[in-house]
Amino acid sequence: MRLRNIPGAKDAISESVYVIQEPETHRGAWGTVFPKKQPLHIEVGMGKGRFLMDMARLNPEINYVGIEMYDSVLLRALQKREELAETGELLENLFFMRIDARILPEIFDCGEVDKIYLNFSDPWPKARHAKRRLTSREFLARYDKILTADGTVEFKTDNRELFEFSLEEVKEAGWKLIAHTFDLHHDEELVLGNVMTEYEEKFSSMGNPICKMIISR
Ligand SMILES: C[S@@+](CC[C@H](N)C(=O)[O-])C[C@H]1O[C@@H](n2cnc3c(N)ncnc32)[C@H](O)[C@@H]1O
Repeated sequence: MRLRNIPGAKDAISESVYVIQEPETHRGAWGTVFPKKQPLHIEVGMGKGRFLMDMARLNPEINYVGIEMYDSVLLRALQKREELAETGELLENLFFMRIDARILPEIFDCGEVDKIYLNFSDPWPKARHAKRRLTSREFLARYDKILTADGTVEFKTDNRELFEFSLEEVKEAGWKLIAHTFDLHHDEELVLGNVMTEYEEKFSSMGNPICKMIISR
């Protein structure tokens, strides 16, 4: 997702209390960033952030960080967040940050993250761009550096080719496939507690089956 450049987006982001500025300064000390010290889950490529806002509301005992690389997209998440705040919903367990996930190990220290969500990640269909896919072995190596020993990655997509590529990468990288399905919404076990993302709602309403995997090292 890349929206047209929105004038003022950079300033709105740098002034927002919902965005962690200079996130690398918190490396090794993420427990002190949130009002409560509790497990940390992140979504890489959160888009407009609805999934994480829903998750933060449903799970106040978890801290969440939403990561997005484009100002224009993050701005949309901030607008939604401000609307929620106006209705009194503060979601103190959720922050955003604007970074390229390639630098995740500069932001989080070993074992600081308990779970990583990847939802409807960009497919980068050209073979020469495979390294940019968020489930490539290069990205799995980055996640390896920041996850707790029993940390997990949960990935959802409607893109069957990207899902099959990801299954191969999981095997190549020596990660474990804990669970997977090619049709999440008809999988009695994996669908339990499923929170839909914006893309999930759009693609499933078009009749596309949603694939999901849960992996660990
Ligand atoms: C297709 S959208 C999906 C949005 C949302 N997760 C959903 O399911 O509705 C993917 C998002 O990931 C972001 N993204 C892609 N690569 C990224 C990276 N390396 N670091 C941070 N964000 C990234 C894109 O900018 C885009 O907003």
